[in-house]
Amino acid sequence: MLYIPRMETRVLEIDPLEDCRSIYKEAAAVLAEGGLVAIPTETVYGLGADAFNPEAVAQVFAVKERPSFDPLICHLSSAKALKDIADIPAELQELVNKLAKEFWPGPMTLVLPKKDCVPDIVTSGLPTVACRVTSHEAMRGVAKALGHPVAAPSANRFGHISPTSAGAVLKELGGAIPLVLDAGACSEGVESTILAPCLDEKGKPAVHILREGPVTREKLRGLCRVLKPKKNTADSEPAAPVAPGQLKSHYAPAKPLILHDPKEPFTPQEGVSYGLISYQGDSPLAEQDCWTEVMPLSPGSGRLSEAAVRLFAVMRAMDEREDIDVIIAEELPRVNIGAAMMDRLTRAAAR
Ligand code: TXA
Ligand code: MG
Repeated sequence: MLYIPRMETRVLEIDPLEDCRSIYKEAAAVLAEGGLVAIPTETVYGLGADAFNPEAVAQVFAVKERPSFDPLICHLSSAKALKDIADIPAELQELVNKLAKEFWPGPMTLVLPKKDCVPDIVTSGLPTVACRVTSHEAMRGVAKALGHPVAAPSANRFGHISPTSAGAVLKELGGAIPLVLDAGACSEGVESTILAPCLDEKGKPAVHILREGPVTREKLRGLCRVLKPKKNTADSEPAAPVAPGQLKSHYAPAKPLILHDPKEPFTPQEGVSYGLISYQGDSPLAEQDCWTEVMPLSPGSGRLSEAAVRLFAVMRAMDEREDIDVIIAEELPRVNIGAAMMDRLTRAAAR
């Protein structure tokens, strides 16, 4: 275990209407010296290190208390920089170009064979590297100023809820890192979709979805074939590679969280105080009088995209409430971004 000094964490605000290049330069200077900086993306805040500095990357694992088998995503300043870290097989080049054109900059991560310049510690020894071009100018701007990719996992302690605001980063990592760039709330709210481009059983380009996210199955439809996560048999589709960090229990509040059908009645236990995370706050479940607090994800409108933006913040708010013992969360429709939210809630509920 590395020694992690306690330090003062500086916060620099990013105003989207201003030219923030001097701030990106300042953040890049911290990274260039081997320091860590929390940087916003449109999905969640990342804990960034210079991807080409193995000692700085080791600090990311230490500060997050993240197991070394769980590789990091490399954030690039633009799609052009992809070829610097990934060896794209010729037969996948067209598919990669198509995905990059459609979804970058944006909430998509591509897992591709890595180049030797990417240190093994970034990829946990895997021959592949996860690559992303976020739509958030801050992360792209810092990577550009640094001149290297920024290796950045979500800026939370391992297994905890991902931070979607600078305040949430400070609660997770305040005092353990020197700098946080504060651009306010993230506009997507759940982590990027992770895709592994591959060839299907007929040798045609396709993708495996390693993690559901804002680039939904629905958005991929018509663009490329999405392979089912099947085990490999002689005549089946190729087995999906795995995202080693996607553990059964993840994204978890400290309190127990239980998923519940919003149309089914809930039977509370005597002496236990419950908080309900409700989709719209007006389900038959939400109407029951057993809740200490009902927090709707998308009050009124019932938009899954609004619910996604608020999901982690509401989970945190419930977790911080001293008068609540157990969190009940309504099951959400598993369509569009609902699939990614149910993935996160199911892992949050696993013990
Ligand atoms: O939206 C996001 O993706 C955020 C922002 C900061 O970019 N990042 C994020 O990183 O969620 P993290 O480390 O919390 O999750 C990244 C996931 C891990 O589960 C890891 O196992 C997977 O990406 N991953 C990274 N490299 C991989 C590789 N070479 N092959 C398969 N999975 C990989
Ligand atoms: Mg994470």
